[in-house]
Amino acid sequence: MDFQLTEEQLAVQAAAREFAQSELWDGVIERDEHQKFPAEQIKKMGELGFMGMMVSPEYGGGGMDTVSYVLAMEEISKVDASCSVIMSVNNSLVCWGLEKYGTEEQKRKYLPGLTSGEIIGAFALSEPEAGSDATMQRTTAEDKGDHYLLNGTKNWITNGTTASVYLVIAQTNAEAKHRGINVLIVDKGMEGFVTGPKENKLGIRGSDTCSLMFNDVKVPKENRIGEDGFGFKFAMQVLAGGRIGIAAQALGIASGSYELALKYSKERKAFGVPISQHQAIQFKLADMATNIDAARLLCLQAAHDKDAHQDYAKSGAMAKLFASKVAMDTAVEAVQVHGGYGFVKEYHVERLMRDAKITQIYEGTSEIQKIVISREILK
Ligand code: CAA
Repeated sequence: MDFQLTEEQLAVQAAAREFAQSELWDGVIERDEHQKFPAEQIKKMGELGFMGMMVSPEYGGGGMDTVSYVLAMEEISKVDASCSVIMSVNNSLVCWGLEKYGTEEQKRKYLPGLTSGEIIGAFALSEPEAGSDATMQRTTAEDKGDHYLLNGTKNWITNGTTASVYLVIAQTNAEAKHRGINVLIVDKGMEGFVTGPKENKLGIRGSDTCSLMFNDVKVPKENRIGEDGFGFKFAMQVLAGGRIGIAAQALGIASGSYELALKYSKERKAFGVPISQHQAIQFKLADMATNIDAARLLCLQAAHDKDAHQDYAKSGAMAKLFASKVAMDTAVEAVQVHGGYGFVKEYHVERLMRDAKITQIYEGTSEIQKIVISREILK
């Protein structure tokens, strides 16, 4: 792995940092408090190329590498992890999956809107009884010749109410188990498709999460991605890449928390000196900085593996496992460094602490990452 970032990668990082600081910082507390979807901000992110970073320019994307994506995700997550999860799902799960496995017609129909931020995409795998055990799909896509009849419920869907296009995983042939699962493109407005109310969440409250209900939805055959039965592999593949995005989100939450704690420790005085001069605080800052650097290296390693067309299931899972723990630990310590001020909203660290938790849960819990890593090691 080359440890030196290219000029282009540095420029992407600088652009994301500038955007996050100037456009996301103001209003982030209010969006969190009122669970307000960052519609304007996402539109601007689309205009700046952050919604389809790795998609080929032919379909309106930025044609960038995964390393650039990780750098941008970190900067945006430092300020607003709600914006970055919307960005991550759109980039990693929806755009990447469509570009890699979609037909030319599907790509031309959906990618320009998704990459420009005109429309948002969602990925629907989880169900009331199929979270970690993703093979247990109860949503059915019955083959009716020229269309599939889709029935069932999906849970915890990021961008659930705001998306226009959904990649839905459903069981067509139960006997074939995971080899009988398909992935279908479902458009908002298809008859029989409704979304549930927004979940009232602990963190990433600006992003919208809800259930999806399908009741005899007729999905044309041409909306299937890949061969019949490819849906489970599709889900595993997009999630392997998605974990790099969420690892970078966790990294950003950690580095955002650390930067706030560092700044505060130099300003706040106790016992006659800035608290940064007390060893108790210095040790916390040293631990945070070391863990963040280690998490960043794992994120860049996974991104590098993906860019080099090497297997990235293990490195992506390692990056997510480690970075999400670092996010949680660092945010908790950042609150501690702030003392009582850390417990109120205007100092931002309590929000980062709440946001951190989901990075240990979605796109596979920490336990799932350990399953993926150990299987790769033992293979
Ligand atoms: N790439 C390609 N294929 C893969 C793969 C990968 N990375 N990982 C597994 N597969 C294939 C296997 O080769 C196997 O195929 P064959 O049998 O045809 O050879 C098939 O998938 C089944 O594999 P496993 O036997 O390993 O499957 P399993 O049932 O034991 O489960 C698991 C594996 C890793 C636990 C998986 O179920 C999993 O990842 N679960 C977590 C699901 C998850 O992350 N959900 C998150 C929801 S999305 C989300 O959170 C988005 C959001 O809102 C932000």
